[in-house]
Parts: sequence; structure tokens; C-alpha cells
Amino acid sequence: MNTKIKKIDVNKMDMQIIEEAGEILKRGGLVAFPTETVYGLGADALDEKAARKIYAAKGRPSDNPLIVHIAEVRALDRIATDIPIKVEELAYYFWPGPLTMILKKSEEVPYETTGGLDTVAVRLPQNVIARELIRAAGGYVSAPSANTSGRPSPTKAEHVKQDLDGKIDMILDGGSVEIGLESTILDMTVKPPMILRPGAVTLDMLEKVLGDVSVDQTMIGDESETPPKAPGMKYRHYAPKAKLMILEGSLREEILAIRQMAYEAERNGKKVGVIATNETIGFYTNGRVKNIGSRENEKTIARNLYAVLREFDEEDVEEIYSESFALEGMGKAIMNRLEKAAGHLRISAEAVVRQQKYRRIVFVSNSDTCRGPMAAEMLRQKELVQEYVIDSGGMVVLFPEPVNPKAEAVMKSAKMTLGNHVAQSFSETEIDRDILVLAVEEEQKEKLITQYGDNGNIYTLCEFIGETCKVEDPYGGSLQTYGACLEKLSGLIDKLAGKLNALAAMTMDKE
Ligand code: TXA
Ligand code: MG
Repeated sequence: MNTKIKKIDVNKMDMQIIEEAGEILKRGGLVAFPTETVYGLGADALDEKAARKIYAAKGRPSDNPLIVHIAEVRALDRIATDIPIKVEELAYYFWPGPLTMILKKSEEVPYETTGGLDTVAVRLPQNVIARELIRAAGGYVSAPSANTSGRPSPTKAEHVKQDLDGKIDMILDGGSVEIGLESTILDMTVKPPMILRPGAVTLDMLEKVLGDVSVDQTMIGDESETPPKAPGMKYRHYAPKAKLMILEGSLREEILAIRQMAYEAERNGKKVGVIATNETIGFYTNGRVKNIGSRENEKTIARNLYAVLREFDEEDVEEIYSESFALEGMGKAIMNRLEKAAGHLRISAEAVVRQQKYRRIVFVSNSDTCRGPMAAEMLRQKELVQEYVIDSGGMVVLFPEPVNPKAEAVMKSAKMTLGNHVAQSFSETEIDRDILVLAVEEEQKEKLITQYGDNGNIYTLCEFIGETCKVEDPYGGSLQTYGACLEKLSGLIDKLAGKLNALAAMTMDKE
């Protein structure tokens, strides 16, 4: 089948295209169209053959019912019966908009549309293209999200094309959607009404109109065997190809844990993705890091979530690590979709963070122009099981002096460089538990302990690796003296890397 793709501008609606699309639906065909939540795959809701086509095109299990989209509130009367009084009020406040109500179905609605249920899901969308299309199609358009079953819902026409090109008659391209997550589903056939799927119309908003509202407990974080009330919610929906893991803890712990896991996974040859935010993106160095939006405005996160998951798919990412989001308002919908995408794979960030003892290693010498920076650079070249920020600092640095030229010369002949290093003084305000301070000589160690107190993280390099040795300052000596110093350091750094890796293996084992 050749899928026609038609661009359509909400501000200058080409009604001829709408008429053409409406005709396709009336004849039992399939048209994908934008709504404010996600793109929908439309069919005539009152035509059972058309409903079957939807299931086939999406590869969707046919016990998973469809949402019937209408363009005016009064259209409800034909498809629903025993409509509770509160529905009118809900329609007044939230329609057109991202709210789907479950009601008792009338005989006009075929069981193919409702997946065999005696209830029907109804929504009046905000998007004007959607509403005009519904009118042109006769008033009742069933539309699931326009993705292949199991993939993230489409938020752009391009996504629909990726999944359904050649399988449907037409795609109306109305640009990017505004909300990005599917509508809130509210079951109005039970008392009190129950939210089956969280969305942009939040619990708070509904409670203001209804008073008491219950929430399907399987929605978030419930690993119980109870099946969710909305049949569609039981599938591992919205799933990217990669294994998605959500880290949970304080934001600091989440960042540290993600850094750690991304580093380790990349070391093991995995293609890694990281879901970060405006506020946190600067903290990540490993993996493909994508900015999903701002924590200050969770709407931006909702809008980008599915597109980001699709991008990771295209890049064949194998593991994705994500931060968590607040469980209030729109955050609830975001977490619900993330958890579904992750197949409920939540990891305690704190437990991951506990598996790493040191995160930063600082070599301390007198002037930070030779032994300290050499040791730091040598350690950076090592294969380390865990990730460390490796630095050096001096005890008596008066100005940002460049490295000693002889030190650079011997490093170069060992195929390394101190590059643009300039001396900096060791100036931590305090020594945190996850910093390992390695003094080049006993003298600096003692000064550090006098200054900071002994919190058990300050050693001489030799002491830390269990050797009695000394790394003499080559200052004023010949190139050979510097060469000998490099040799000496090189042996010690080998042992240091071995010790750090053994330590890492131990802390990782303990968990
Ligand atoms: O925002 C949306 O709702 C989008 C746009 C296109 O309108 N549509 C959408 O449809 O998300 P879909 O098919 O991907 O999700 C419909 C959900 C499924 O989880 C389904 O099980 C549930 O609604 N549902 C439909 N009819 C139901 C019913 N009678 N009782 C309980 N759940 C129902
Ligand atoms: Mg869907």
C-alpha cells in the first residue's frame, strides 16, 4: 500500500485534504493524524472491519480496546448509555482536551472497537486538525496511538512514518504535538471514578471537579500480579529496544550512580544512553547523553520523552540509564511511562553509589609541576574498573606555572604528554569521604593532615600501595634524573591501578 503523507497547517487549514482524509475513513481506511497528546491511527469507530485493520496495522492484540474520538460533546449520546451526571461537568472543564472517559457502551459501538468490553473509552481532542477530521469522517473515529505495538508513541509525523509507512492509507503531518504523553484515562463506570492511566489532566485537577477519585494501584511502582484495569496498560508498552533502567534516590545519588553504571557498561563494550535534564546534563561524561527537558518545567520533559527513546533506538543503544522525576502532577505521567518503558526496572541509586569508595584522586606534590602531574597523567592512561576524576595539586604554588620542560620531555618519550597542565594549588575546602589524596612525599602528607585533620583518606603514594619507597624530586637534575623518576613513578602507578581495581572488585562484590 502506498501511504500518502500530507502536510497540514492548523493556521491555514486546507479543507480539501481534510475532506480527502475523511472520505478514506468513511470507506473503511486508516488515517494517522495529530492530536495534542500523541499521533493517533484513525478508523471509523462504528465499522468493525475498520477496527480489525487497526489491530493488524499496529500488530496490536485485539483484546486491547480503542479510544473513540468525537468532535462535539453531544456526539456522546449515540455511543454511550447510562451516562453519569458528572460527565457533563468533566466535559465542561476538560474537553476538548487530554481526558478519556470510560462509559457504558451503546449497541452502536461494535465489540471490535471495545476489545470485547461493554464499556467504551471516549475522548474529545483539542487539536483542530483532529476535530475537523473527525467531523469529515462522520463523527466517530477510533484511534490508538499511531505506533507499532510496543514502540514509543509517536509525537511527530516522522515517527508514524517509521512505524506504519506502507501499512496505512494516509498520514496527516501537523508537526510536533504539544503534550507528548497519552491522555488521562478516567473510568466513570465505577464509584468513585478511577484513574487508569495518568496524563496531563492530573489527579488534583479531577478531584476539584469530582471530589473523591481513586487511582488504579497498578499504575506506578506496583510489581504485584494484579492486571491493570485498562487492558492496554498490562503490555510492556512504550518500550525502546534498549534495556532501560531508572535510578532512584536523591538527585546527587542518581547522578553519581548513572555516571558509575554508564562508565562500567561502556568499559564492557556496551552502547550506553543517558537520559539527563537541563539541570544535570553537565555532570555526565560517559555514554550518549540526551537532554530531555527542564526539571523546572516538567511539560518539556513530557514532550520530549518518546522522541528521545526513539532516538536511542535509532542509534542502537543497548542500555539506557534515566534519572527519576517527581511523582506529582505531570511527573506522575512521566514516571508511569518511563516505568513501563523500563519494564519496572528500578535501581536504588544509593546502593550503586555505595559500590564505589573513591571518585576523585588527587596527587599532591610541592610545586605541581613534575611528579604530581606525571603521576596523574599515568593513572589516567590505565584501564580502571571504576571511573575517577584524576587531578594533581601543589602545596606551594604561587602562580600558575607551566610544567617542568624536562618532565614533559621524558613524558613525550614515553608517548604521553602533560599537555597544557599548569600548576595549581591543592585547595579543597574539605576532604570528602570519596576523595583519595596521595602525597608524593611524607612531608606533604603531614602538612595535609595538620591542615585538614586525618579522615583516613590521606596517604603517601608509596604507603597506599603498601611499599616503603621514596620518589625523589628530580628538580635541578639532568634529563636522565627525570627519566629515572618517570620509571620509578611508572612502576608505582601500575601497582596503584592494580590496588584500585582490586578495591573496586571488593566493594562491588559486597553488594
Ligand atoms: O492520548 C490518547 O489517548 C491517544 C490519542 C491518539 O488520543 N490515544 C491512545 O490510545 O493513547 P491507545 O490505544 O494507545 O491507548 C488506549 C488505552 C489502552 O490502554 C486501552 O486499554 C485503554 O485505553 N482503554 C480503551 N478502552 C477501554 C475500556 N473500555 N476500558 C478500559 N480501558 C480502556
Ligand atoms: Mg498506545
